[in-house]
Amino acid sequence: MALLWKDELLTGVAVIDEQHKELFARIENLLDACNQGKGKAEVANTVDFLAEYIKIHFRDEEEIQRNSGYPEYEAHKAMHDQWVREVAELREQLATDGPTVRLVLKVNRTVVDWLTQHILKVDKRLAEYLRSQ
Ligand SMILES: [Fe+2]
Repeated sequence: MALLWKDELLTGVAVIDEQHKELFARIENLLDACNQGKGKAEVANTVDFLAEYIKIHFRDEEEIQRNSGYPEYEAHKAMHDQWVREVAELREQLATDGPTVRLVLKVNRTVVDWLTQHILKVDKRLAEYLRSQ
């Protein structure tokens, strides 16, 4: 199993960190299914399993932002919404073509790299704001 989580991703906000770890666990499931050459339907199921948790996580994280009057809420939410669309698009491609080499690379870029960069840059800024409240 690919171990994608690293402690440098910790934001210091416990509920967000726990959910981020769960997101990475679900991304690892998806990559494992891809790398084990699982069929289209099974790979699509692992994306559904991830997408279900993305919804929960974004709902909670956005609620924290609204409740704390976070000034960057709108821009932050727009990034979440955009990523949700990209993951849905990727799911369609995986369900149609299966985990081809090209698509697995795309999973790494679209899912793993995006989330890693989002946490490091955008969520850490949110965490700093929450600490300053
Ligand atoms: Fe976020």
